[in-house]
Amino acid sequence: MKTLLEKEALHAGVSKMAKQIEQAYEGRQLTIVGVLTGSVVLMADMIRLIQLPMRVGVIQASSYRGATTERGDLIINSELMIDISGRDVLLVDDIFDTGRTLTRVIEKMHEFGPNSIRSAVLLQKEGRVEVDYIPDFTAFNIPDEFVVGYGLDYEDMYRNLPYLAALEPADLEKHAVLSNNQN
Ligand code: IMP
Ligand code: MG
Repeated sequence: MKTLLEKEALHAGVSKMAKQIEQAYEGRQLTIVGVLTGSVVLMADMIRLIQLPMRVGVIQASSYRGATTERGDLIINSELMIDISGRDVLLVDDIFDTGRTLTRVIEKMHEFGPNSIRSAVLLQKEGRVEVDYIPDFTAFNIPDEFVVGYGLDYEDMYRNLPYLAALEPADLEKHAVLSNNQN
């Protein structure tokens, strides 16, 4: 794997974004909602860095690839979400790629009557956006490569890596062999 961002660089970028968020919401209460599962590591850091009174919640977005749904069909599950009505919501996700996930989640959240919804992402991939929206806060812009670590996965693995790495063809082969041998 090729390391794109070391642990220290990640921390610096996330701290900077946390400061920008603090300034943007100064004097207000914040409701931070993390998109499961990719945002868990970023959420854990952000909620401890942002010095504002806050509520913390989650919403789940997953792309099912079962027999009955089209590949990449997005399922949004808001059953776990806390009350956001009348609140200033900051939605947190790992990566803004085409933008379809985040815009669909925002659409869903509007059903619950928040006062405002803004978004913060760890990463934005260059040249991929397919929607008319950009996140309000972005820690890093990265080239169009498939990345893992710091919450981001490949087939549900590698989320625990403390750094961000790009998966190369040799890594995919290794991953396939390991998955077949050990499940
Ligand atoms: P979008 O809907 O195209 O913006 O994709 C967003 C979702 O796709 C993210 O929340 C991730 O779960 C996943 N994703 C996109 N690019 C990557 C990547 O490079 N590594 C891991 N997951 C990714
Ligand atoms: Mg994901």
